[in-house]
Order: sequence, then C-alpha cells, then structure tokens
Amino acid sequence: MEQALKNFFLFLSKNKSFNKLAKKYGLRLGGSHFVGGETIEQAVQTIKDLNSKGLSVTVDYLGEFVDTEKVAVERTDHSIKTIEAINREKLDAQYSLKMTSMGMDISDEVIMRNMRRILEAGKKNNVFVTIDMEDSGRCQKTLDIFKELKAEYDNVGTVVQTYLYRTEADIDDLNKFSPNLRIVKGAYKEPVEVAFPDKKDVDESFKKIVKKHMLNGNFTAIATHDEAMIEYTKQIAKEYKIPKDQYEFQMLYGIRSERHVELLKEGYNMRVYLPFGTDWWGYNMRRLAERPANVAFVLKGVFKK
Ligand code: FDA
Repeated sequence: MEQALKNFFLFLSKNKSFNKLAKKYGLRLGGSHFVGGETIEQAVQTIKDLNSKGLSVTVDYLGEFVDTEKVAVERTDHSIKTIEAINREKLDAQYSLKMTSMGMDISDEVIMRNMRRILEAGKKNNVFVTIDMEDSGRCQKTLDIFKELKAEYDNVGTVVQTYLYRTEADIDDLNKFSPNLRIVKGAYKEPVEVAFPDKKDVDESFKKIVKKHMLNGNFTAIATHDEAMIEYTKQIAKEYKIPKDQYEFQMLYGIRSERHVELLKEGYNMRVYLPFGTDWWGYNMRRLAERPANVAFVLKGVFKK
C-alpha cells in the first residue's frame, strides 16, 4: 500500500495539468509547509527568520524540465537576482539549482552559458552554488558539467545519490576535484538496473559514501532526516576527529524542524534547504512520495486559511 502511494505521488509530480493549476492558484493549494514563499521578497523574509535561529540556508528557486531557451534564460536571470539579494540582505545562505531548469535539456551551449552566468554572480556576491542531482538519466551529464565548471570556479558543489549503484565509483572519480558534495539517498523513481530497490541497501551505501568522502578530507553535507544516518555521521566524525567545519547536516524546510534547532544546540552546523517560487508542484509531490504521512501537513496548509 505504501509503495502504491509513493508511486502515485511520483506520478502526480510529473503531471503538467496539476502543475499549471498549482501555479495558477498558488501556495494556498497546500504548498506552504515545504515552500518558503512565492517571491524573492517572501523567501528573504523566511531566510531571515531561519538565520535568526542560527540556521544556515540553501535557497532554491523552484522549477525543472524547462524546454525553451527563453524560459531557461528567465530562470537564470531570476537565480542571479536571488544570489544578489542574498548578498544585499547579508543573509547566511547559499544557492541550489536544478540544471534542467537552466536549459540542460536544450543544448550544451545554453546550459554552459547560463551556469557560467550564475557562477560568476555567485563569485561576485560570495555565494556558493550547489547543483542538485536529478534523475539517473541525467547523472553522467550533471557530473561532466560539474567537473568542467569546477575547473573554472571554486564556488560550486554538487550532489550524489546513494541509491545509485554507480555512486561509490563516482566518489572515487570526483575525489581529484576535492569537491564539496551533498550526500542524499535519492528522490526519483529509478529502475532496479541502476538503483538499489531496498532501503537497507540504500542506507548501507549512504554510510559507506559519507565515511569515504569525509575521510578523503572533503567538505560533506549530510542531507537526511534519518536519525540512524545522523548518528552514524556523528560517530564517524568523533572516531576520526573530523573538524566541525568539514561537514554539516542539511534538512528540508518543513521536515523535522524541531530537530534542525536541536542539532545546532548539540554544536553541529545545520543548513536548511529552502525552495521558493510558484513552480512548487513537482517538489511537493516528491516530498509526499517520500513520506505519505506528510499529506497531513499539506492538508493543514489548505484548511488553515
Ligand atoms: P528516509 O526517507 O529514508 O526516511 C528515513 C527516516 O527519516 C524515516 O523513517 C523517519 O524516521 C525519518 N523521517 C523522514 N521524513 C520525516 C518527517 N517528515 N518527519 C519525521 N521523520 C522523518 N534528492 C535528490 O535526488 N537530489 C537532490 O539534489 C536532493 N537534495 C536534497 C537536499 C536536502 C537538504 C535534503 C534533506 C534532501 C535532498 N534530496 C535530494 C532528497 C533525498 O534524496 C531524499 O529523498 C529525502 O531526504 C528522504 O530521505 P531521508 O534520507 O531523509 O530518509
């Protein structure tokens, strides 16, 4: 039953008609629990609130699977405005993006031009940029682009997903770039040919990747709500005396919010991933797929008004 619900929400996440409706009617359709506003101004306010509790942020302007150059350029411009706002408002925040939103599926020329503009803005405004990882069909291309950009810019990192069989080899390959990596389990529906189907294997892989990347001496963002993964990281950090400035925990806005602050109080660095914008449908449906119990939060958002 749980698996059927997960598949249902993943199916909905790709539904274009619902996405259109969500844009038209806005966050009152139930998006506000996981999304920090529809405009840059609203996102800035949410970031200020989080920063005032001591939480760092990585902010993401929602949107994915763009197929016209015009929209990809608009999204790039909007990303740059967000990066400038982070600097102007003196926020403790980084920027995260999905390359399908910046023209990755259109052409190599378009995506490289847009990414260089964003990273230039990041450099000028002292803002670090993380390239989110999308579905497995785009993994190799994402890593290739990351490597090319990393040779030109210091302020860029990316993500690896521990449900993919390939990730351990990717970590070995990426090590020569001393990359700043966010480690996640993975949020997309993937076939058994490329990804572990069982949670226990994904968890074991998560631990292996976290340990390897930390012991390689690279900055590691441990992005999970799973207490077992958090405990494991603490234990590795203690055992191998990993300095606190070499790793941080990351969680999504609206999920286990009380734990964000507790981890801070325990002395760990904590960053909240904060999406904003009108294109929130796919993102929200993936959160529901991860944990159908989250439906309660969404319904609360709808009926609160
Ligand atoms: P998992 O879903 O396995 O849950 C394990 C346990 O965590 C649960 O049993 C429960 O105990 C606890 N838990 C989970 N949700 C909870 C809740 N709402 N309330 C209370 N307890 C809860 N994915 C991707 O493919 N590409 C990317 O770029 C990113 N980026 C990213 C950034 C950040 C900051 C995070 C936190 C996550 C991502 N992800 C991602 C999503 C990631 O791949 C994954 O789908 C989710 O984090 C869910 O997996 P978990 O590791 O949290 O645990």
